[in-house]
Amino acid sequence: MPQEFQSIKGTKDILPSDTGQWRRVETIVHEFMAKWGYDEIRTPVFERTGLFARSIGKDSDIVSKQMYTFPDQGKTSLTLKPELTAPVMRAYIQHNLVRSGPLTKLYYIDSLFRQERPQAGRLRQFHQYGVEAIGSPYPEQDAEVIALAYKLLQNLGIENLTLLLSSIGSKECRSRYRQVLADYLSPYREKLSPISQKRLTSNPLRILDTKEPEEIEIIRNAPHLVEYLDEEDRDHYEAVKELLTQLDIPFVQAPTLIRGLDYYSKTTFEITHPELGAQNALCGGGRYDDLIGDLGGESTPAVGFAAGIERILLVLGDSSRGSQEGQLRIYGVAASESAREALARVVMNLRSEGVTADVDTLRRSLKAQMREANRLNATHAVIMGEEELKTHT
Ligand code: HAM
Repeated sequence: MPQEFQSIKGTKDILPSDTGQWRRVETIVHEFMAKWGYDEIRTPVFERTGLFARSIGKDSDIVSKQMYTFPDQGKTSLTLKPELTAPVMRAYIQHNLVRSGPLTKLYYIDSLFRQERPQAGRLRQFHQYGVEAIGSPYPEQDAEVIALAYKLLQNLGIENLTLLLSSIGSKECRSRYRQVLADYLSPYREKLSPISQKRLTSNPLRILDTKEPEEIEIIRNAPHLVEYLDEEDRDHYEAVKELLTQLDIPFVQAPTLIRGLDYYSKTTFEITHPELGAQNALCGGGRYDDLIGDLGGESTPAVGFAAGIERILLVLGDSSRGSQEGQLRIYGVAASESAREALARVVMNLRSEGVTADVDTLRRSLKAQMREANRLNATHAVIMGEEELKTHT
């Protein structure tokens, strides 16, 4: 095939040999979410660009470099969704979902788009499942969301999980820390990349998320945000840790954990897996108490996470490639050309009765049809020829 028609770098076809694995994951997610009391939500594939700039933050890598953004006919700037928290909060506010009660628990399985450099576990179109629990400001909700993220990965068959936990505090404490960090980084200004130099004044916290080895070295000794939490944030963090311990969810405190999105406050977390290498996060999330207010809704606390399905499948590997579901039972075989029409009707009726059945449409010979029935692992062949046509058997 000419290059010009091939699929886009960083996108993947999910072929029939893989769709079984995908369906298995999706089915477990749907069943798990129902048990934990989360309802499904689906949102459009694109949104206004401003929704993402406002929520994820214009200095973030996602907004500054990775979005697929284009004008529509009316020249409104649109963006293929790079994540789901902002669209789900937009829907929550727009449809006044608070109506249904003080706590709204939503989940999704969806496709996202980020213009990143493709590599193992990093695609330009990828898939997530995730949850957003809206309404509770209490650490119980953080613990429930984190426990759900952890238990669901275990349920999918993944072991060796590491839960990294931290807190980035409230807006006020982050703004205090921002100054501390800017003071620490200023002497290194000349050594920072141009984008980090810009961030030094606009949003120094983003520098902590750097991938540049030289900058990683510089921030190694930077003061940690957790040390600047105020009393309320510290209490909240302590309570989350206590609740996770009670729920037998092991965690590691990660004071350097900085998520790539700006909307978080207080609790942040990631679950990583050693087999994933550089892109080692299976899932990430946290609390975002200011986002709904920032988007024009009534200020409402919320917490959530999302997990990358491609990365989950990478970890599960070939072991999760089970046998095909819905194994074929009947293959209709025409022993004469004149039997084909009646045979097609028989096969259609079998399907209507709930039997998995298939029939040749390539006008193949009797022998070739029998071979096909074998190849498809049909348990029975229904053979129809002149005799059966005449006797209606
Ligand atoms: P995120 O950390 O940007 O968070 O993405 C969550 C997960 O999606 C990652 O841990 C990773 O497994 C997967 N992922 C991200 N980018 C890619 C990519 N380019 N290719 C393959 N997989 C990828 C969020 O999206 C937040 N909305 C999570 C959240 C929900 N926070 C609160 N509620």
